[in-house]
Amino acid sequence: MRLGIRKEPLSRETRVAATPASVSSLIDLGFEVSIVTGAGEASGITDHDFVEAGATIVSSLIDSAPLDMVLTVGEVDAPDVEALGGTGVIMGLLDPTTNAERLAALADQGVTTISMEMVPRSTLAQSMDALSSQATAAGYAAALLGATRLPKFMPMLVTAAGTVPPARVLILGVGVAGLQAIATAKRLGGVVSAYDIRPETREQVESLGAKFIEAPTQEMDDGGYARAVDEDTAAAQREVLAAAVAESDLIITTAQVPGRAAPRLIDSAMLELMSAGSIVIDMAASSGGNVEGSKPDEEIDVNGVTLLGPTDLAARVAADASRMYARNLLEMSKRMVVEGSLVADPDDAVVGPAITHRPDTGGSQA
Ligand code: NAI
Repeated sequence: MRLGIRKEPLSRETRVAATPASVSSLIDLGFEVSIVTGAGEASGITDHDFVEAGATIVSSLIDSAPLDMVLTVGEVDAPDVEALGGTGVIMGLLDPTTNAERLAALADQGVTTISMEMVPRSTLAQSMDALSSQATAAGYAAALLGATRLPKFMPMLVTAAGTVPPARVLILGVGVAGLQAIATAKRLGGVVSAYDIRPETREQVESLGAKFIEAPTQEMDDGGYARAVDEDTAAAQREVLAAAVAESDLIITTAQVPGRAAPRLIDSAMLELMSAGSIVIDMAASSGGNVEGSKPDEEIDVNGVTLLGPTDLAARVAADASRMYARNLLEMSKRMVVEGSLVADPDDAVVGPAITHRPDTGGSQA
């Protein structure tokens, strides 16, 4: 079985789909591993490190064609398909919602695409849950970004020059990213409050030493995700949140509803209540935004409040984000090797839901 690891085509993508440790385990599984030169550089992994782990360094994956599988961080790129030589597997964060048509067309050609976003959020699939591993990295990076952009200390300091109050931090949306942002902001000494529409998050927020804000909550759907709320609930939410927003120095929003635009939690009127110098980081900027006016990867000044919409947060901690992601891919690969052959089994409880099926066999699952 021949496996390729590409150098990610987007220059701002600093992560890589393998580490020396995962390469060594993939070889133990029976793969020959080719890696494009420089693929790990931005994650602090040299070609030499990969060679020591047993990989072959190539200038292009096409040099190793035909491959059985290509592992990616981001979306499918033409050379990945070419390197497979007609059939095989491409597995990565392929953005199946945006790329549904392209992935279905590839399935039609005989290329199996596996989107890590579609791995079920179940106990069985935990070690393969790339959404969680990358949200952990992103939530951590968001809290650090906020701390460095604030013109204030995060912790309370008692000094000869006076007592400095701690920064007040508000986290909206307490999924995986939000929990990590809370934990990181707490470690930095901030006074943290948080809110989520799912009532069970209260206990998680409080167990991290943060305060849960009393605002409307709602039971989750069967998949454990939040549902979209109606406009009356959204208005009630904003009314309660306005007071918390007004007194915050740093706000990080992470609220998402799968397959839908992100809920709007903060409008312009609420932003105007904040003090100049405050920082708002909208982690949902690329899916519509939790904050009115936020734009992906832009920095916007709203009366002295800085509104940020970074989409590369996980890539800012590339070494550890890659380490966790490579482990997710390795665990998926383990499920797919059957008696020395690569099998993407549509009936497998973890792999199956992540495969984009040919349109004529039930349509894309993306
Ligand atoms: P996500 O990225 O889809 O959403 C982030 C957060 O936004 C969620 O906590 C959601 O409840 C919240 N949210 C949505 N609409 C909101 C609104 N109008 N107001 C306030 N908050 C709102 O979430 P993530 O981190 O991907 O987790 C989704 C679910 O999956 C969670 O229930 C989580 O506990 C569960 N999960 C289960 C795993 C497992 O069993 N292995 C692993 C990871 C997550």
